[in-house]
Amino acid sequence: MKSLLIATLGFCLGLNEAAFDPTQADITSAKQQIGSLIDANAALGPKFLRLIFHDCVSKKCDGCINFDIPDNNGLKEVINTLDNVYTNPEFNFNQKMSRADFWVLASIEAIDVGVNNDEPSAARPPINFVPGRVDCPTSPRTKDPASFPHSKMKPADMFKYFKDHFDFNANETTTIMGAHTLGRAVKENSGHIGRWTMDGEFSFDKAYYHLLVEESYLWTQQNVGTDEKPVWQWHCQTTLPIDNGESCGIMLPTDINIIRELQLNDVGYSSCEFLACKLAPTNVLVEKYDQSQEAFYQDFGAVFTKLINRK
Ligand code: HEM
Repeated sequence: MKSLLIATLGFCLGLNEAAFDPTQADITSAKQQIGSLIDANAALGPKFLRLIFHDCVSKKCDGCINFDIPDNNGLKEVINTLDNVYTNPEFNFNQKMSRADFWVLASIEAIDVGVNNDEPSAARPPINFVPGRVDCPTSPRTKDPASFPHSKMKPADMFKYFKDHFDFNANETTTIMGAHTLGRAVKENSGHIGRWTMDGEFSFDKAYYHLLVEESYLWTQQNVGTDEKPVWQWHCQTTLPIDNGESCGIMLPTDINIIRELQLNDVGYSSCEFLACKLAPTNVLVEKYDQSQEAFYQDFGAVFTKLINRK
């Protein structure tokens, strides 16, 4: 009687922690259904990865996004797509696991598909999924504030942000930024435009790091906003005659911070050009990942596991 009372009280308070106990079969089935979504639309994979970062930015991963915050632009549609599967009575995933767990599985599936796109036989980043995340009572939406990193953060501020929010050291921050090897930026969402890795936005690989160390690439700053509201980002151009000066990708100032100490002003313009800026202490790790995808995968698995285990 007493335990029934406690369970009822817990349920009323939204403490649904004990309500879910997904089996391995549930987890596999959820990943399969999410995989089908990505098969049908490859652009969803990177969006699932971005979603989990934005979910876990608050104190824990709780299946809740504040749609009033512009940093979350574009995520409502992503959540609706996932919800069509999560709440589908054919699968009943919403009775087997929290929405936060389901979103984490979506991000892991996105990485798996991205590895497959690069090299199907490759070992994967070792990500340890343990269910048990608890959704906020109003999931998938919340009015709670959240503080996001922004692309014009000065190097010290950026590394401090990741230390304060996730307890990541500078190397771990350099590793987690490799997530940008997937996906693209869209003007309507963030003001930024383009794909980080021009030829591989759906491949989860070391290409992001290669872009930063390849000596034949020329990086220049471009304002893709307006004079009144500048949005500074970096554009990569090939310089070898064989490559015809083609575009090779983009970086946000925060991406460049992991290899060069940008001297950023308040709107994200750096007073030093790429090669003239001092090398950042984390450049050693960037070079290591360029040399070894395996090293990147190993470290990414560990740091991503840390990110998704904020329960
Ligand atoms: C300093 C830190 C970061 C900044 C400033 C930042 C900023 C951004 C911006 C501006 C976009 C473009 C969004 C759009 O226009 O739709 C984006 C996309 C993305 N971000 Fe980040 N990000 C950061 C860290 C991270 C981390 C830690 C992850 C994952 C763990 C991540 C994963 C992604 C992914 C996968 C995309 C591509 C989404 C798509 O293709 O729709 N980001 N990020």
